[in-house]
Amino acid sequence: MQKPRVFIARRLALDPRQVLGAGVEIDLHDSESALPRAELLRRAHESSGLVATLADKVDGELLDAAPRLRIVANHAVGYDNVDVPACTRRSVWVTNTPDVLTDATADLTWALILALARRLREGERLLRSGGFSGWAPTMLLGRELRGRTLGIFGYGRIGQAVARRAEGFGMRVLFNTRGGGVSFEELLEESDVLSIHVPLSTQTRHAFGPAELLRMKRGALLINTARGPIVDEAALVAALAARHLGGAGLDVFENEPAVHPGLAGRDDVVLLPHLGSATQEAREAMARIALSEVERVLRGERPLHAVNEVP
Ligand code: DGY
Repeated sequence: MQKPRVFIARRLALDPRQVLGAGVEIDLHDSESALPRAELLRRAHESSGLVATLADKVDGELLDAAPRLRIVANHAVGYDNVDVPACTRRSVWVTNTPDVLTDATADLTWALILALARRLREGERLLRSGGFSGWAPTMLLGRELRGRTLGIFGYGRIGQAVARRAEGFGMRVLFNTRGGGVSFEELLEESDVLSIHVPLSTQTRHAFGPAELLRMKRGALLINTARGPIVDEAALVAALAARHLGGAGLDVFENEPAVHPGLAGRDDVVLLPHLGSATQEAREAMARIALSEVERVLRGERPLHAVNEVP
């Protein structure tokens, strides 16, 4: 009998054979680059399980091309790349990888906050370019965080982990979430640092447009480690150019991997290539969860981290 095929659309931080038994055939795209769409569809065709990443759009077209598919195990906590209702209609499970990347992402959020507040990028560039001629009382003065207000938009696992770290820095924390906290308007008006931790959805796309950015405190810092399209990048560039905002720390981009040309040359912006969960520990755990979910479903069991319900 033919073994079910598991298509893994990207190189993982561990060897899939550490998790998947001999009962499945593995088709691994062993590369850091995303597959071209046609190739993704072609290789999904015979597959019963798919391990997808956030760059792999799993939509009706892909599902039609993969009639044997029983599970899409998304190698991410976010799953806005997957059309979940379309999967449910075809009785395909969708799973994600929660919890294991919470600390990594919260740490990286703080790396961005500190890099902006203490002008790390400018300091490092000065030094490397040979421009450091000695200590000076007025050189590259940043700002202190103690006593300032950290606003957290979205108070799930990652938002809460960011808030816990704020205690050590002596910041006051405000949060806005569907279930409580302050209003979104208050969050905008009160935050000295505003950090985004909501999933991307039709409600949150461009939640930070021209009006919202203008409503933020003058000189505030905006941090995004969630999903790029939550911020209207053109509006952000305008708010920075007008010196209304004091800076932005971005790990994600509206048209990722492209970065708005108005951001790249700015000193008040720190840009990272979507590194939120990029620790060895988190990425191994994410791979392990995604592969285990595939194995579970192919054994006929219910997955542990399903984001849909399949009859
Ligand atoms: C996620 O998990 O959603 C991240 O963006 C990728 O690690």
